[in-house]
Amino acid sequence: MSTAISPTAYNYKVVRQFAIMTVVWGILGMGLGVFIASQLVWPELNFGLPWTSFGRLRPLHTNLVIFAFGGCALFATSYYVVQRTCQTRLISDSLAAFTFWGWQAVIVGAIITLPMGFTTTKEYAELEWPLAILLAIVWVTYGLVFFGTITKRKTKHIYVGNWFYGAFIVVTAMLHIVNHMSLPVSLFKSYSAYSGATDAMIQWWYGHNAVGFFLTTGFLGMMYYFVPKQAERPIYSYRLSIVHFWALITLYIWAGPHHLHYTALPDWAQSLGMAMSIILLAPSWGGMINGMMTLSGAWHKLRTDPILRFLVVSLAFYGMSTFEGPMMAIKTVNSLSHYTDWTIGHVHAGALGWVAMISIGAIYHMIPKLFGRAQMHSTGLINAHFWLATIGTVLYIASMWVNGITQGLMWRAINDDGTLTYSFVEALQASHPGFIVRALGGAFFASGMLLMAYNVWRTVRASNPAEAEAAAKIAVVGAH
Ligand code: HEM
Ligand code: HEM
Repeated sequence: MSTAISPTAYNYKVVRQFAIMTVVWGILGMGLGVFIASQLVWPELNFGLPWTSFGRLRPLHTNLVIFAFGGCALFATSYYVVQRTCQTRLISDSLAAFTFWGWQAVIVGAIITLPMGFTTTKEYAELEWPLAILLAIVWVTYGLVFFGTITKRKTKHIYVGNWFYGAFIVVTAMLHIVNHMSLPVSLFKSYSAYSGATDAMIQWWYGHNAVGFFLTTGFLGMMYYFVPKQAERPIYSYRLSIVHFWALITLYIWAGPHHLHYTALPDWAQSLGMAMSIILLAPSWGGMINGMMTLSGAWHKLRTDPILRFLVVSLAFYGMSTFEGPMMAIKTVNSLSHYTDWTIGHVHAGALGWVAMISIGAIYHMIPKLFGRAQMHSTGLINAHFWLATIGTVLYIASMWVNGITQGLMWRAINDDGTLTYSFVEALQASHPGFIVRALGGAFFASGMLLMAYNVWRTVRASNPAEAEAAAKIAVVGAH
């Protein structure tokens, strides 16, 4: 699609590219999720080949859903939001284009290297040093484009959504660079600069804040723009949003040690991580309430607007996972939940219920505006997608709760003489029905994404990007 972009209009091209790739990577990443979930039901699906084994495809799944699907959604929405709320075009089209192509190159690199077995072995930071360096360069450029655009804003204040996006960009750069410090020994092998318990601490400082800043703070930026927009109501409390921001970023950074309970990490650090995680409930729920209450006086819209439903239900899952997380951070609870499917259920309550649902809602909101259409091709299909996603998420997390608690209790059960009551294989057999239900839930969620792809394709096919650019131009001119 070729468009003559006026220099005064917003740069929608890069937003369109990232938005479309969000859907594409969503389908691939979640499709792979369904595949690895099926491998846990039918191990024959490993095919006896190294590159199709669960151990290699699992990190590819996490990289595709977090960095490809989630990352593209964050790039698309942040570029859209920063331009509209600052009433100005992105500071540089070529740098923005570089972030798009550079990010896609990192993802393609992951698709090639992870199945081949090249990995740093650090979870969520598996990419070997050449790709990690490319990622760092793309990310710093992203920061230049985002903050550069903010400096040339035509509005007086910086809208709160941009504060959240800004924190997500700065902290992600810091985490990635510090955790990836390593010594390369060949093109595809490097060793961490840290060792032992220090290495573990740095890794989970990174890992937890990847959750806190990549999978949470960035998506909260999304919430602060798209919930009020779709509900056509102002945000419930601007004051609360400021308290929410400072409290969240101050507390998150300390909670990492809850991933390392009962390890060689000093006991005081574990207890500090636990305490900070429990306090984290307050800003998390403050933010959720701010989003939910924005609907005051607009609740009736939920009956007819499936996009708003995606956004609101995502907040409900956010509230649920940020209640569950602090509970799991309590050492005694963690001694049961750690290593079990309970963690996997918690992850996907956040990942499917919160991250994916809010991204899907935001993309449905943006696509017609980006492609010069009044609305999506079919509201009925969005509604069907909403139910597939909601039922899929509930099946996923409910089955993992049952599995997790069953596994935790079976592993710790002991006979009077001190021997284990159950062997590991017995606990695995007891988990089998839950694995089937999880694969089914995942298939529900992933098929919803196929409906989305069809709906987006039909909307794009009938689109008029030139009109979208012209509308954007009027908006900018009107602001002068
Ligand atoms: C107040 C908020 C939260 C707290 C205190 C929290 C706490 C926890 C705890 C205690 C664990 C288990 C650690 C272990 O036993 O190894 C965990 C795991 C995890 N959580 Fe959360 N959580 C929160 C919110 C979220 C959200 C919103 C998401 C997703 C969007 C999320 C994603 C994850 C992931 C991916 C893991 C697994 C990490 C791994 O072991 O690979 N969490 N979280
Ligand atoms: C159709 C949807 C999905 C399915 C069927 C699925 C399935 C799976 C499976 C089977 C695992 C491995 C569990 C294990 O090792 O026991 C996994 C891990 C994981 N998935 Fe998904 N997934 C889906 C969507 C997502 C999305 C959208 C995200 C993030 C935005 C995500 C993030 C993760 C993470 C972070 C882990 C690692 C958890 C840990 O180490 O504790 N998944 N997924």
